[in-house]
Amino acid sequence: MPWWEQAVVYQIYPRSFQDSDGDGVGDLRGIRERLDHLVWLGVDAFWLSPIYPSPLADFGYDVSDYTAVDPQLGSLEDFDELVAAAHERGLRVLLDLIPCHTSIEHPWFREHSDWYIWSPVDGPPNNWVSAFGGPAWSRDEQTGRWYLHSFYPEQPDLDWRNPEVVEAFQGVVRFWLERGADGFRLDAIDRLIKDDQLRDDPPASGTFPLPLRDDAAKLRRIYSGNRPEAIEALGAIREAAGDALLVGEVFQPTSEYSRYLQVLDLVFAFEFLFSPWNAERLRAAIGAAAELRRVAWLMSNHDFERLATRVGPENLRAAAMLLLTLPGAAFLYQGDEIGLANGPGADRTYDRAGRDLMRHPMQWDSSPTGGFTTGDPWLPAVDPAERNVEAQLDDPDSLLHLYRRLIEERKHLGEPFRLLDKDGGIVAFERGEDEIAIAVTPKPS
Ligand code: NOJ
Repeated sequence: MPWWEQAVVYQIYPRSFQDSDGDGVGDLRGIRERLDHLVWLGVDAFWLSPIYPSPLADFGYDVSDYTAVDPQLGSLEDFDELVAAAHERGLRVLLDLIPCHTSIEHPWFREHSDWYIWSPVDGPPNNWVSAFGGPAWSRDEQTGRWYLHSFYPEQPDLDWRNPEVVEAFQGVVRFWLERGADGFRLDAIDRLIKDDQLRDDPPASGTFPLPLRDDAAKLRRIYSGNRPEAIEALGAIREAAGDALLVGEVFQPTSEYSRYLQVLDLVFAFEFLFSPWNAERLRAAIGAAAELRRVAWLMSNHDFERLATRVGPENLRAAAMLLLTLPGAAFLYQGDEIGLANGPGADRTYDRAGRDLMRHPMQWDSSPTGGFTTGDPWLPAVDPAERNVEAQLDDPDSLLHLYRRLIEERKHLGEPFRLLDKDGGIVAFERGEDEIAIAVTPKPS
């Protein structure tokens, strides 16, 4: 059985996990100092949200150099030391690979402009919209030409139909694997390839089951993304990655995932993440995803409302139970294990799409910065006096201890998995030949 099949992967948002040098921004050395937290929890691996140099228009998801570490987060040597320390402790390391777009400040944008997607006319050639709202085409002031960006205008889309792009990315994958990475989370992978004729997306016919901005929701995005050709392109990433773990962020309904699973090991179960917190809807989302057998369950991440805010504190224990007893891999976002809720953001808005609230620092102790930094944190701590790792370690009934127990116990849950068709507001299933029964009651929050 591959190591990741039942793995628990802990998502680290590097800027907000632990600062080691007092500049208020988390870094790789800080992560190394805190590895024992992950060992205590019993997780198998951690995923680092982007660590590469970036002008921070999309907080690391706009990469200006794929084979370096952002100086604020550390250096390649720090990365090597982090990997060595993780491996010594039996923890595997996943990086975030962002193949669909670069930063507009990546030298490739000027040096290899044919690696990007340009409009053949003087203006947007179609009705495609960006994930953050507004047209997906912007004018490059330097050349007067229009380029495609599926996300912010600072993130021009690469043209994966160009073999040089494919080759460059295979090099990036090999670079990090040689440095000891054990796999990648692949960003926005359903946007990898677009229609070669740049056809208009037709109007939406039904409701898309995942949240979209208004203008995107009006379209059936069959030409601006989710193309069948993406699978071949992903095959090139697979070729370079060998048997390293590849987890895909495919922002599509569950019914679209099996194609991607021809090449990827896991895809995130987004319909489960966005399911309303009621038994019937959860059962439906779980049933469809569990059939694929290779989904990565998740309850939150750095993009969407934090778990404690979404389901309310009264449901946190049930949510932990559900996440960690479903069959397959589970991803746990830093802070969820102590019940950290959305924060207020800061006076300065960092993320234009409003996601600062989910990115506040980890709370290690009850001090005003939660032990995250000795300096002035880039985002303030939310409520370290009420909620922190140190206090919950001292309390065997805490949420933190529950996470640890569940991570341990899940090793004894086997196959088969049988979802029980219970009424009465309960999500119930059986695991293993001993038919261990698990039942969770989502309460209205
Ligand atoms: C998904 C990432 O999780 C998100 O943070 C980012 O803004 C987009 N992809 C674009 O890279």
